[in-house]
Amino acid sequence: SGPEVAALVASRVLDVPDFPKPGIVFKDLMPLFADGTVFRQVIDGIVAHHGTGSFDVVAGVEARGFVVAAAIAYATGKGVVPVRKAGKLPRKTYSASYALEYGEATLEVHEDAFVAGERVLVVDDVLATGGTAGAALDLVERAGGTVSGFTVLMELGFLDGRKRLAPRTVHALLTV
Ligand code: PRP
Repeated sequence: SGPEVAALVASRVLDVPDFPKPGIVFKDLMPLFADGTVFRQVIDGIVAHHGTGSFDVVAGVEARGFVVAAAIAYATGKGVVPVRKAGKLPRKTYSASYALEYGEATLEVHEDAFVAGERVLVVDDVLATGGTAGAALDLVERAGGTVSGFTVLMELGFLDGRKRLAPRTVHALLTV
């Protein structure tokens, strides 16, 4: 159930103070990925929420979003498209820069990543300020996709990242 999966996520996140910058508390979900039973329950929880009919392809945001996106894609029989940090993709890309909770970054997607009108579920591990997800939204839509929604394991509600993504919906297994 929803509360059970939320409790699982809460039990497998480590708060790392002052990473990567002083004053930032990094939410490390790698213990969750490393536990096969928990990882499967968490992915199953996401798939149960979204079903298989509301999206055609999954877009995963580098780096931890790749882990979650690939698992959702496999479980639902969809493909997965990487949204990558600058300079990593080999062919022509669209690129979007954004302010991070700590610093600035650029994301890119291949220009031909989506078929026009394809419905895309955008996936990441954590939603904080929404800068990353907002850049992914811009990129997916510039590349011809339609963002059907966002899914994350954990949302930092006090940073209000959803605002950047409205009116599109965000599903978070756990909001803190
Ligand atoms: C983290 C996290 C999200 C993003 C959320 O990634 O995995 O992608 O920050 O923050 P935001 O909502 O404020 O944009 P990070 O920048 O640490 O990159 P990495 O996954 O490549 O380490």
